[in-house]
Parts: sequence; C-alpha cells; structure tokens
Amino acid sequence: MTHRPRRSCLYMPGANAKALEKAKTLAADVLLLDLEDSVAPEAKGDARAAVAAAVKVGGYGKREVIVRINALATPWGREDIAAAGAVRPDGLLAPKVETGDEVIALDDAMTEAGFADEATLWVMIETPRAILNLAPIAAAARGTRLSAFVMGTNDLAKEMRAKPGAARAPFWSALSLAVLAARAEGLSAIDGVYNDIANAEGFEAECRQGLEFGFDGKTLIHPSQIDVCNRVFAPSDDEIARARAVIAAFAAPENAGKGVIKVDGKMTELLHLEEAKRVVAVAEAIGPVS
Ligand code: COA
Ligand code: MG
Repeated sequence: MTHRPRRSCLYMPGANAKALEKAKTLAADVLLLDLEDSVAPEAKGDARAAVAAAVKVGGYGKREVIVRINALATPWGREDIAAAGAVRPDGLLAPKVETGDEVIALDDAMTEAGFADEATLWVMIETPRAILNLAPIAAAARGTRLSAFVMGTNDLAKEMRAKPGAARAPFWSALSLAVLAARAEGLSAIDGVYNDIANAEGFEAECRQGLEFGFDGKTLIHPSQIDVCNRVFAPSDDEIARARAVIAAFAAPENAGKGVIKVDGKMTELLHLEEAKRVVAVAEAIGPVS
C-alpha cells in the first residue's frame, strides 16, 4: 500500500492546453489528464497528442501524473495506451471497468505498451455492474498494477437513475462497498467529483463526508477546489499529535510487550498503534503544509 498522498486528484480535459500548463503551478497531489468524457469524439486524436506531448516535456514536479484513457472497447482505448506508454506517465486511469478480467487485460496492454512494473493502474467505478462486482475487480490487484478505485458518481447517477441530493443517500451503499473492497486489497479509494464549482460550502461538506466514508481523497474539476480538499483529507495537527503520543507510549520501556495500554486516559491497543503509524506516514508523505 502506498502512503503517497492522493488527497486532491484534479481532472483536466486533455484538449485544454491552458489547463495542462496551469497544472504545473497547482497544489493538487494528482493530475488526471483526461482523454475520455471531457473530450469530444472529433477531438480525441488531438487531445491524445497534446497529453502525450505534455507528459513528455514534464514539469509536473512531485505531482502524480495519471492519464485517463478511453475504454478498451472504444475505437480510441488501445491507441491511448500505446501513446501513453511511449511517454510514461505515472499511470493510467481506465473508465467503465466492470470485471477483474478487464483489469488484467488493461494491465497486459500496459506491459505491451512499455509501462514499467512500478507504473500504476487506476480504475473508475461508475456503473451498476462494477458495484456488483467490486470484490473480484479489487482482487485483480493481486498480480497487476491496480492501485486505486475512483468513484464516477456522475455516470453512476445516470446509470442508476438516482437523484442524489446534498447527502448523497442513493450512493451510500455503493460508496461504502467500494471503500471496503479497496481496503480489502490495499487500494487507494478516491471519491467522485462535486459539479457545483461555485458552491464552496457544499463542496467542503462533501469532502468531509468522503473522509468519513474512508476515502483517501476526492476527484476535482476546478483549481478552486484544491486547497479545501487538501486540508480536509490531510491528518489534522491534533490527529498527528495523538498518533505520535500513541507511538511514544508503546515505545516506552515500561510498556514493552504490552498489547493494551492507556494513552491520555483512553484504552489503546496495538491496532491503534498501527493506525497511528499510518497517520504519521501519511503526514510525513504530505510534508509541511503551507
Ligand atoms: N485544471 C486545470 N486548470 C483549470 C481547470 C482544471 N480542471 N479548470 C479551470 N482551470 C483554469 C482555467 O484554465 C483558468 O486558467 P487561467 O487563470 O490561467 O485563465 C482558471 O483555471 C480559471 O478557470 P475558470 O474560468 O473558472 O473555468 P473555465 O470556465 O475556464 O472552465 C470547466 C470550467 C468546468 C470547463 C473546467 O473547470 C474544466 O474543464 N474542468 C475539468 C472537467 C473535466 O476534466 N471533466 C472530466 C472529469 S468529470
Ligand atoms: Mg465517467
């Protein structure tokens, strides 16, 4: 499992040269360079070339650069993978994945296109069939590059004919099952997008809801969403201090060999020590917050 921060994952249309350039200055942990839904069919070829050129030139620093390809079943998917393989982004995000076999086929296509073993494969969970197949899709991570689930809540709403309000009740079971399946196999879990760019309050509430569900981060559509998202999904100063206290308490000589102790008045077990170590690792991977 990676401790690489994946709090803020910003989509940008591959056909938008200005966005690809602006991304070099944005504080997003992950850049999702899109060749799929945000690119019109007539623009697919140009977008593919623009994204390949941008990845080749680079300049994205420590941001994780992921290219969202078109599905293998479309006329563009194979060419997208081949073009990306030639310039080696950190990984690919594949849409509309519904089975473990599709994960394996995508991974094989990445190998064929020249991707290194360390490259990552992320998949969109955005159809009813994907929700019903979450366990086998996640299990395909064994022996492939699969490393993250990304919720595609706009597509899911359309396919379910759901009308999610601010609380997103129609998605609760799907969101929760996706997090469970991801955790079962050590994958990152990234929440869906919030479409109402101007509604900062609603956006922050949805970030917090995603955090409560267990997501590592959220997909974003506009630079104005980055800072709040980074803040919500980073461990707070209090959480980090508590985690360090738990680690220190278990390391104290008088607690050597103990499975349960009291820290700050609270029962604290080895499972809390494990979680404390994870919180500190995440905080260290994020680094000082400006
Ligand atoms: N990534 C990088 N830069 C972005 C951006 C994004 N997703 N969205 C906007 N910007 C940039 C704009 O280029 C503009 O840059 P500038 O200050 O250098 O001029 C600045 O941020 C302000 O943009 P704004 O005018 O507020 O937005 P817009 O009207 O140009 O674009 C959208 C609005 C929705 C079309 C645009 O935000 C977008 O394309 N978002 C991503 C959509 C997407 O990828 N969807 C697929 C997954 S759901
Ligand atoms: Mg989609």
